[in-house]
This record gives sequence, structure tokens and C-alpha cells, in this order.
Amino acid sequence: MDIKMAMMERRSIRKFKADPITDDMVQELLEAARLAPSGTNHQPWRFIVVKNQEVKERIQAAAFNQRFLSEAPILLVCCADLSTYAYNTKKRLQELIDAGVFGPEAFNSYPDIDKPKDANTLKAFIPHAMLNVGLAMEHIALRAVSLGLGTCWVQLMKAKQVAQILELPEHLVITGLMPVGFPDQNPAPRPRVSIQDIVFKVVE
Ligand SMILES: Cc1cc2nc3c(=O)[nH]c(=O)nc-3n(C[C@H](O)[C@H](O)[C@H](O)COP(=O)(O)O)c2cc1C
Repeated sequence: MDIKMAMMERRSIRKFKADPITDDMVQELLEAARLAPSGTNHQPWRFIVVKNQEVKERIQAAAFNQRFLSEAPILLVCCADLSTYAYNTKKRLQELIDAGVFGPEAFNSYPDIDKPKDANTLKAFIPHAMLNVGLAMEHIALRAVSLGLGTCWVQLMKAKQVAQILELPEHLVITGLMPVGFPDQNPAPRPRVSIQDIVFKVVE
């Protein structure tokens, strides 16, 4: 499917058929996530693939009872792994330096690169990590369209409660939930602001 077509056809889907989706489809979605770009190629995305109905319902209860979360055959819990910022930065930066992307002085931007990082220090990386996970999630959303599947981004939740349900370690920070299944609705495009409204200025 043409990428523009996928972007035009994607909608937030909030009603799913009960039909299961195949493991191959789930693999395709995870592969789409894997291919996303990330800052310093950190690839901090991690996913919990929830198929269990009872667990989906418990997560739904922690997400203000958005009904479609347990209706979807698969619920992806999309997380940022902060621990990648403790062990990965040097290796990934070196790869980019070796590829000629940055000069070796890029290490100066990471003065504490060799220092062990505790959980509190790692929290500083949450915005960077979440941005990267967001990109992977949108890769999933667009790949889903091309497979005839629907998704919805969900951030409205009590993330701590969801983390407890899934017994997540502290270094996994939930960025969003993404129910996936065959759409049982065909919503019209939602309103968008115009191009004039989003271009703040053109500098020539
Ligand atoms: C970061 C983010 C968080 C969102 N959180 C929720 C949510 O908690 N529940 C929900 O039903 N939709 C959620 N949405 C979906 C938006 O409401 C939706 O993208 C927007 O209304 C535009 O509709 P469309 O996706 O069909 O184009 C979220 C979208 C994004 C990008």
C-alpha cells in the first residue's frame, strides 16, 4: 500500500470485530516498530503483547474503561526502556561516529557516558525515550492499515496501575496503549487544521 494512502485511510478505531489476528500479523506490526528511527539509534521501544482477555479487562479498568481496549484481540502496551540509556549510548554513538555522522567530539554532549546511572538519573531520558516510542507506535498504526487492521493510540490511563497489572520493572515506562484488531466501524476523517495554520513562518 502506498504510504500516503495508509496515512489517509488511518483512523482511530474504537470498535473491533471479535475475529482474531494472526501471529504473523503481530510479527509484521512489531517489525514495523523495529524499523522506526530513533535518536542516537537507541531503539528504546519495548512491547508487551496482551492476548489474555482478563488482563485486557484489568488494563481497560485502569484506562477509564475505554471499552474498545478489551474488545480488540490484541492490546499492545508500548513502553520506553530507560535502561537502554545506561548501557547503549556509547555503543550507538560510536557506530554513528564510525559511519561519519558525527565527529568524535559528539561524546562531549554525553559527559557522564561512562558513569553508572541510577533509576533517578535515567528519568531525565523519559522525554527522549517516549518520543522514540511514539515514532515506533505510529509505524505500527500505519502498517496496521496496510494489513486491513485498525488501531487507536491510547494515553488516557493510570499508567502506574497498568504497570502494576503487568508487573513491569521500573525502567519500563509506558508511553501508550495500542489496541489492534479488525475494524468494526468506518469513521469519517476527523477534522484537521489547515496547512496555513500549521506553518508558523517560512524563512527564505
Ligand atoms: C498521543 C495520543 C494520545 C491519544 N489518547 C487517546 C485515548 O486515550 N483515547 C482515545 O480514544 N483516543 C486517543 N487518541 C486518539 C485521538 O483522539 C485521535 O488521534 C484524534 O482525535 C484524531 O482522530 P484520528 O486518529 O481518527 O485521525 C490519542 C492520540 C494520540 C496521538
